[in-house]
Amino acid sequence: MQKIQDDFALQSTIVPGYENFMQGLMPITQSGVIDTAMGERIKQYVLDYVRHTPLTGFNNYVDNGYSRNYIGRDRSGWEAIVMAWRSGNRTSIHSHPQFAGYTFADGEFLVEIFEPCEGGIQLVKRLEVCEQTGLYAIGEAGKFTNHIHRITCLSATAHSLHVYSDDALKGPKYDDMPVIQSSR
Ligand SMILES: [Fe+2]
Repeated sequence: MQKIQDDFALQSTIVPGYENFMQGLMPITQSGVIDTAMGERIKQYVLDYVRHTPLTGFNNYVDNGYSRNYIGRDRSGWEAIVMAWRSGNRTSIHSHPQFAGYTFADGEFLVEIFEPCEGGIQLVKRLEVCEQTGLYAIGEAGKFTNHIHRITCLSATAHSLHVYSDDALKGPKYDDMPVIQSSR
């Protein structure tokens, strides 16, 4: 199975100047087990951060995807990434480490969430995002097959800030997997 990292060997950059983001994030991640209470705290923290820190300075847009700009990585695995998007930019269908938090800072997005099913995957939720919004998902520890989704940028430009409990590039892609129409 292909992995997300196959798409980003040359496109992920490390951006200095955002150390205070990780300094605020790490005490939350170290406060206990990864559960909904921690997820809510991370969500609020990132929403507060993007309210006060415009991400519009990240303008390294790319045509055939979205740019990933690391603003922090911790040896425990936790990482924070600002993504810069242009209209039509779309992720693969992909899954995540145990914790995946994604906060839409500006612009408009379509989020499609999938679940595994007999013979492939099926679309279980479709969400249009037009304002600052924080989402997160908690899955199984040590796995990268949690929370399957695809994000598409709908506005001219857009930015999002993503927090993961481990190197998100290790996650698999599902683009070759059949999308089964739900019978519900
Ligand atoms: Fe994702």
